[in-house]
Amino acid sequence: MNKLLLTNIGMLATPQGNGPKCGEEQGKIQILKDAWVLIEDGIIAKVGTGAPDAELAKDAEVLDAEGRLVTPGLVDAHTHLIFGGWRQNELGMKLHGATYLEILAAGCGILSTVTSTRNATEEELTVKASAALDEMMKLGTTTCEAKSGYGLTTEHELKALQVIKNLNDRHAMDVAPTFMGAHMVPSEYKDNREEYIRILIEEMIPAVAEQGIAKFCDVFCETGVFSAEESRKILEAGKKYGMVPKIHADEIDPIGGSVLAGEIGAISSEHLIVCPSEGIASLAKGGTIACLLPATSFNLGATFAPAREMVEAGVPVAMASDFNPGSCPCLNLQFVINLGCLKYKLTPEEVLTAVTLNGAAAINMADKVGSIEVGKQGDLVIWDAPDLDYICYRVGSNLAKTVIKRGQTV
Ligand code: NIG
Ligand code: FE
Repeated sequence: MNKLLLTNIGMLATPQGNGPKCGEEQGKIQILKDAWVLIEDGIIAKVGTGAPDAELAKDAEVLDAEGRLVTPGLVDAHTHLIFGGWRQNELGMKLHGATYLEILAAGCGILSTVTSTRNATEEELTVKASAALDEMMKLGTTTCEAKSGYGLTTEHELKALQVIKNLNDRHAMDVAPTFMGAHMVPSEYKDNREEYIRILIEEMIPAVAEQGIAKFCDVFCETGVFSAEESRKILEAGKKYGMVPKIHADEIDPIGGSVLAGEIGAISSEHLIVCPSEGIASLAKGGTIACLLPATSFNLGATFAPAREMVEAGVPVAMASDFNPGSCPCLNLQFVINLGCLKYKLTPEEVLTAVTLNGAAAINMADKVGSIEVGKQGDLVIWDAPDLDYICYRVGSNLAKTVIKRGQTV
């Protein structure tokens, strides 16, 4: 048996449970001082305080946390990990005042990444995404979600989802796969969007389901992309084929995405920067998790989602990176943690739940990861920090000292 005993934890901070936390519960976490954790064959076997029984250390690798903070491994529930190329050329356009939607309308933006992604082989995309996963792990992320959505043909969407499968086979990171063929109408269907939507519903979704390589189906519900009614049709089709709906909503314009998310029973709704009060009410009613992406607001120079109102309204709030080559070329959840406190005004405890348990719940993995509890995967981070406040307050350094995935240091 493979045993790891983590001792001398100054502060162990973790949410608890197998599902999302909302309202006051979001900020109620367990804090243990002078704690230890035993991981056996990758699964947390015991958690305690004080000096661990000498018996526990028998045949175990012992790791001394030297009084530091330990939290669950971070869960990044929203990334567009699979893409070819980058888009640094858009920085100049942005500095000259072009908005995200203007860049998109000029045929740049997502569409230029579609060209680079179609031109890349499955192996090239796997190697590139794997390097990003390495970087994410060094920063404390131990589970993430990844979307297709830069292929926009059946062949290239399946290629992206196959890349995610390859990553799960080859990399220590757990990667939850999302089909996002409805990320954009590709230029070849610019004047015939109904036909692209037909292909999505009648060809792509069945083909993805046939291969069983996506758990979720996501749509970019936005001005100039997919309307709320189109999004509803696509997500209903995904549901019919067993894919759980997610929806990019209210990122730039509030065109009904968050209301739809609650109505359709989406597991999560993403962005919500300009979410109206009826959207918040719908999310609360539908039990939909608000997956907020503050590093995108930062990169777009946009306002920040009304996170406090969401917590007060009983909507479970998760926070993720939105890592992608355009609106958020950032995969660092530590920066997201900083923004959660400074811009959303969430407490360190609420923020921790947002980037661990609620993130895990947004990808249907809260029974396996997202907290340090007996029976969950041994995914933890030892931080170069004495307490939780410290990682929320320090900006710009990598404070993840040791990252442990399934009981192994990475
Ligand atoms: O979540 N909003 C849509 N998709 C991404 C951006 C993708 C891109 O710009 O390449 C997002 O922000
Ligand atoms: Fe996104």
